[in-house]
Amino acid sequence: MTHRKVITYPTKPEKEKAFLVGIELFNHPGDLSIEDSLQELSMLCDTAGLEVVGKTYQKLDKINPNTYIGSGKVEEIKVFAEELLANVIVFDDELSPRHLRELEELLGNSIRILDRTAVILDIFAQHAQTKEGKLQVELAQYEYRLPRLTRAWTHLARQAGGGGGRTGSVGGVGLRGPGETQLEVDRREIHKKISNLKSELEKVRAHRARYRQNRKRSQIPTVSLVGYTNAGKSTLLNYLSHANVYVADQLFATLDPTTRRIDLPGERQVLFTDTVGFIQKLPTQLIAAFRATLEEISESDLLLHVVDITHPNAINQWEIVHNTLIDIGAGDIPVITALNKIDLLPEPAIKSLGTGKFFDAIPISALSGEGIDHLLETIKAHLFETFVDIYIHLPYHEGKLISLIHDQGHIKYMDNRRDGVYIHGRIPGRLISYFQSYKIDPSTETIKG
Ligand code: GTP
Repeated sequence: MTHRKVITYPTKPEKEKAFLVGIELFNHPGDLSIEDSLQELSMLCDTAGLEVVGKTYQKLDKINPNTYIGSGKVEEIKVFAEELLANVIVFDDELSPRHLRELEELLGNSIRILDRTAVILDIFAQHAQTKEGKLQVELAQYEYRLPRLTRAWTHLARQAGGGGGRTGSVGGVGLRGPGETQLEVDRREIHKKISNLKSELEKVRAHRARYRQNRKRSQIPTVSLVGYTNAGKSTLLNYLSHANVYVADQLFATLDPTTRRIDLPGERQVLFTDTVGFIQKLPTQLIAAFRATLEEISESDLLLHVVDITHPNAINQWEIVHNTLIDIGAGDIPVITALNKIDLLPEPAIKSLGTGKFFDAIPISALSGEGIDHLLETIKAHLFETFVDIYIHLPYHEGKLISLIHDQGHIKYMDNRRDGVYIHGRIPGRLISYFQSYKIDPSTETIKG
């Protein structure tokens, strides 16, 4: 008798079903149209592990102070959600604590209410790899939750920390002080958590600052890859370094900055840093929490802005990234723009890329490698071949600067005097700031060359 082997497959846990809600204000149109913004929210939900079962939006003159959308619309959504068996309703903007409270009241306890910020924080929590990344997201989550605490801590613990992990394990509730409500105890606990996280982060940041300082001393220029989420930054870094940086057709696959040393043509080297993708309505808690990571960008010698040129909103995405760079204090750093994914475009469309808004941008495919040689030549020219003339007087204790000009510049004339070295030379433009305080006026100083 033969026994049939019964194979059982593990069943996947069922995804929560999400219904999406957006608004469009007549007088304040957003960066993207409401349809595109909801489409983006849909991708965010998908990345966060939710199944989107439907969406709707309302055009309004102004946000309703109580319920965010009109009260009639709330009723309509309740019916939709019941019909579609949705267990989560996701709003496309950050809801104020009051909105959240009122909506929870009206939509009932069986349905969870989330907003765009909570979804983005959840994705970040799932993707953070390094200690610093995890601490930053955890802090952002607590700061977001604190004013919105309406239910008991256990409810919060389930949501924060992306399922398990550090925050998931802090479900234990502190002892109540005299006359304190449970909510007050929870708030006190969170305040304590926030302050612990901040001091832990300070320590990690001090370490990172030292590391950056060492890197600066090594004098290899740094290029930060910036771009809208999913533009192809990690794919490009992989192509350049033949490394295995995590690439996924998901939003925010890259969270922690990854740095790789890359060879440019002509035996020049450069450090490329992949950074977190930008997005419209980037939660302010995240910008604050990721300040240190974003500092990587603001201290680079050059930015490489990667644009997914095949995306229907490529220009809006470019603008959102451009404005975010200004917001984080990186507006003055030179930028080279790469128009990525041209392997998906027909030949005539590629030809027309050299005109209009992106006339000086470089078309590339990070997947096939097309255009990458030209891109690297342009980066090299920018970093190493744009030389400026300088006249300087370097005191002898500035040995590192003296070596720097020997290594990376051209010396036309040098005079070793008692009070230091007088040099007339040429240096790459990006290094000028190092010598700023030692510049001298050649018309008054006796320096030849
Ligand atoms: P974030 O981590 O969200 O910031 O994304 P990213 O900018 O690092 O994008 P990533 O490199 O993860 O690429 C996103 C998707 O685009 C992946 O599915 C890649 O395979 C795809 N992709 C990237 N570059 C190209 C390209 O040149 N051509 C094509 N066809 N697809 C590309």
